[in-house]
Amino acid sequence: MLRLFKGLKPYWLTIVGTLLLIFVFTLTDLNLPNLMSDIVDTGIVEGDISYILRVGGLMLLVALVGTAASILANYLGAKVAIGYSRDLRQQVFEKVESFSLNEFNSIGTASLITRTTNDITQVQQVILIMLRMMVQAPIMIVGALIMSFEKDVELTKIIIYIIPILFISIFLIARFAMPMFQLVQKRIDKLNLVVRENLTGTRVIRVFNKQKFEEDRFNEANLDLTKIAMKANRLMGLLMPLMMVLLNVSIVIVMWFGAQRVDLGELQVGNLMAIIQYIGQIMFSLMMLSMMFVMIPRAQASAVRINEVLNMQPIINDPKTSKTSDLHGVVEFKDVSYEYEGAENPAISGISFTAKPGEILAIIGGTGSGKSTIVNMIPRFYDAAKGQVLVNGIDVRDMSQEELRQKIGYVPQKAVLFTGTIRDNIQYGLEGATDEQIQHALDVAQAADFVSKKKEGLDSEIAQGGTNVSGGQKQRLSIARAIVRKPEIYIFDDSFSALDFKTDAKLRAALKEETKEATTIIVAQRVSTIMDADRILVLNEGHIVGDGTHDELVRNCDIYKEIVDSQLKGEEE
Ligand SMILES: Nc1ncnc2c1ncn2[C@@H]1O[C@H](COP(=O)(O)OP(=O)(O)O)[C@@H](O)[C@H]1O
Ligand SMILES: [Mg+2]
Repeated sequence: MLRLFKGLKPYWLTIVGTLLLIFVFTLTDLNLPNLMSDIVDTGIVEGDISYILRVGGLMLLVALVGTAASILANYLGAKVAIGYSRDLRQQVFEKVESFSLNEFNSIGTASLITRTTNDITQVQQVILIMLRMMVQAPIMIVGALIMSFEKDVELTKIIIYIIPILFISIFLIARFAMPMFQLVQKRIDKLNLVVRENLTGTRVIRVFNKQKFEEDRFNEANLDLTKIAMKANRLMGLLMPLMMVLLNVSIVIVMWFGAQRVDLGELQVGNLMAIIQYIGQIMFSLMMLSMMFVMIPRAQASAVRINEVLNMQPIINDPKTSKTSDLHGVVEFKDVSYEYEGAENPAISGISFTAKPGEILAIIGGTGSGKSTIVNMIPRFYDAAKGQVLVNGIDVRDMSQEELRQKIGYVPQKAVLFTGTIRDNIQYGLEGATDEQIQHALDVAQAADFVSKKKEGLDSEIAQGGTNVSGGQKQRLSIARAIVRKPEIYIFDDSFSALDFKTDAKLRAALKEETKEATTIIVAQRVSTIMDADRILVLNEGHIVGDGTHDELVRNCDIYKEIVDSQLKGEEE
C-alpha cells in the first residue's frame, strides 16, 4: 500500500493543511475539560460569577475554533482522498488500455472491473480515515494522558492497565480479519463474473432453459460472498462493544476511587470530572485507531490487487524508435509460429506468405485451424514466438503500435459495436468522417439500404452491445467502419459469415472496386466467398497445406478439394 501512497504527492500541500487543522482541533479539544474543571473548582466553589462567565466565554471560543478547524479538515481530507482515487482509477484504466490480449486473459475482465472500482474505493476510505486519525489519535491519547496525570496520578494509572488489553485485542482481530478481507475481494470478482456472463448471455440462457441453473450459480457466488463478509464483519463487530465495555468499566472504576478521594479531600470535584472526560477522549481515540486498523487490512488486500495491475508489464510494447518505410500495404510472414499460453500444441507453425497491394489473399480452413491467430498477429494482438511478421518490410515489433494500426482496417470475427448512433460507430474508424464518406462506406458494405430504412438514418441509436441490429447488419456496419478508414491493409476475419450468398457476392464485388490499391486479407469458411481471390492459403491444424489459386488448388490440394466438394454438394441439395 505504501507504494500506492506515492500517488498522494501532488496533494501534499492540502495534506499538510489538513494535518495542521486537525492538530489545532486536537489542542482545543484537549483544553475543554481543563477549562471546565477550572469553572467548577474555582468559579462554582468560590461562587465567583464573573470568573465563571469569563472562563465560560473562553470555553465557547475555544470550542468554536475547534469545530471550525474540524469541519475544514474534513473538507480538505475528503478532497485529497477523492481526488487521489480519481487519479488512481485513471492510472489503472490507462494501464489496462496498454495491455495486450495476453494480460487480459491472465487477470480476467470481471476482476479488472472490480479492481478499477471497488478496490480503489477501499483505498480511498482508508486514506480518509488515516488523514484524520494519524495525527489526531496519538496527540489526543498522549495529550489527554498528560493532562489527566497532572490532575491526579493515582486515578490516571487505571487507564495504563486498560490500554494493553485494548491493543492486544485490536491486534488479534486485525490479524484474523486480513485474510478474510482478501477473500471478500476475490468473491466479489467471482460475483461480478457470474453477473457479467448472465447479462451478456441472456438469450442463450433462456433458450436452453438454464435460468434455474444460472440462478443457482449466482446464489452460490452470492452466498459465498455473504458468508465470508459476515464472518469478517462479525469479527470486526466485536471491536465496538468491547471498546464500549472497556470505556464504561474504566469510568466506573475511576468514579469509584475518585469519589473516595474527593471524600477524603485529596481531589477536587472539577478535576474528577475532567479526568473522566479525558478517559473518554482516550478511549474514543483508541476506538478510531482500531477502526483504522480494521480498514487497513481490507485496503491492503485491495492495494495488492491494484498494484498487480499497475505492475503488470505488457508483453507487447512500442519500440524506442519507430522505423518507417516507403512501401504501402505489403504484409509478409516469415516462418511464423505461435503458441497460446497453456496450450499443448502451437496454434500455428511455419507460416510463410506475402500479401501485396492490389491483391486479395484468402485464408480458408476448418474452425480452430489457426486462421484468426494468423490475422491477429498483423495488428500485433499477439507477437510471433518464432519468425517474423513484416508490414511494408519492417518487423511489426519495430513499429509503434499506433502507426501500425493506422494502416489497418480490421473487421473482427465477432462484430463489436458501441453505444451511440450509427454515425458515431462509423466515425470510430475515421475521426471526423463526413456524411458523404460514411454514406460511401455504407454503400460498399451493403448497409446503406437498411440504414436508410431506419427512421433516423445515420442518427439511429445502437443499443449496448449492438443488440438492436441483426447479426448480419452488425457485420456490415463493422465492415463499413473499416472501409471508411481507407487503410492500406484490409483484414476480414470471417466477416461475411452472417451474410446471405447474394449480399456476400454483392459486397465482394463492391469491395473489389474499393480495395483496388490496398492489400486485402480475407478469412472465410465458404469457398464461394474466396473462389476468385488472387491467392488462397489452405490451413489445417496450424499448417499451410495448400497455396495457390482456386483452379490450382482444386487440382492438387486434397484438403481444399474436400472442402469444395462438401460445400458444393451442400448447395446442390
Ligand atoms: N485465447 C486463446 N487461448 C488459448 N488458445 C486459443 C486462444 N484462441 C484460440 N486458441 C486456440 O488456437 C487454435 C486456433 O484458433 P483460431 O486461430 O481462433 O482458429 P480459427 O480462427 O481458424 O477458427 C484453436 O485450437 C484454439 O483452441
Ligand atoms: Mg477464427
